[in-house]
Amino acid sequence: MEIADTIAQVRTAIRERRQAGLRVGLVPTMGFLHNGHVALIRESTTSCDVTVVSIFVNPTQFGPNEDLSTYPRDLGRDERTCIDAGVNILFLPTAAEIYPEEFQTFIEPGRLAEPLCGAVRPGHFRGVATVVAKLLNIVQPDAAFFGQKDYQQVAVVRRMVRDLDMPVEIVTVPTVREADGLAMSSRNAYLSVSQRERATCISRGLLAAQAAFRGGEHDASKLVAIAGAEMVDIDSLQYLELRDAETLEPVIGSVTRSAVLLAAAFIGSTRLIDNVIL
Ligand code: PAJ
Repeated sequence: MEIADTIAQVRTAIRERRQAGLRVGLVPTMGFLHNGHVALIRESTTSCDVTVVSIFVNPTQFGPNEDLSTYPRDLGRDERTCIDAGVNILFLPTAAEIYPEEFQTFIEPGRLAEPLCGAVRPGHFRGVATVVAKLLNIVQPDAAFFGQKDYQQVAVVRRMVRDLDMPVEIVTVPTVREADGLAMSSRNAYLSVSQRERATCISRGLLAAQAAFRGGEHDASKLVAIAGAEMVDIDSLQYLELRDAETLEPVIGSVTRSAVLLAAAFIGSTRLIDNVIL
């Protein structure tokens, strides 16, 4: 595995392989890798000849009172995970490499970025879209891999790629869960043992609603209520909403087309998100 710290290095590493006609896959991450990230990497190594993983804790997607400075990091372990998973190039830029002093150009996502996480984390998707656009421009992959766990994120990225005619295929990989259902997340590392136990009620609620839907319950407010009834062990609920899977518009009344039930909740000061597609 080659390690590239600069944009010039990663471009040089990829250039020869692309000229040889190899298909390049990109997996953008913020590191502290877990099996969710590994699922994305495997998807890339299976369908591409060259897999590039980026690890960059992107400052522009964090709000002023969020966890940028405490975001979990373990580069040594991440490097080993990448080697074991068959990554060819690991891109580890510094913030100064991605955002040099005079940096002033951002991607402004539209309606898809307004509700849900966009409403409670102002500017978050502007930061995500900007860094993803930069990574796509730097690596110029044939395909880029994102997790369903961050449903709104991949919706915003897909929209950006279409709207700005970026020549890349966006692949969504299903959410990888712990044995007890909790969606894997780097932020799970913040949880104490008892908080970790309480966190399971989030996926339990979502999966209960999904089971009810499959059992024939199509009333939107009832499905939300079924999920909410399980989420009693969280400290506060930021949102629990049933939305159109494509447009992310609210679903009112009966579920007649593909919908997604999304939740964001606090366990102590840790914010967790999860979703299921109905
Ligand atoms: P990060 O949270 O590190 O996640 C990197 C990728 O892994 C994202 O596409 C995310 O959806 C996916 N992922 C995380 N947990 C997952 C799980 N349990 N199952 C499947 N996929 C999972 O998301 C980001 O970083 C950043 O916003 C980024 C896209 C890198 C831009 O900075």
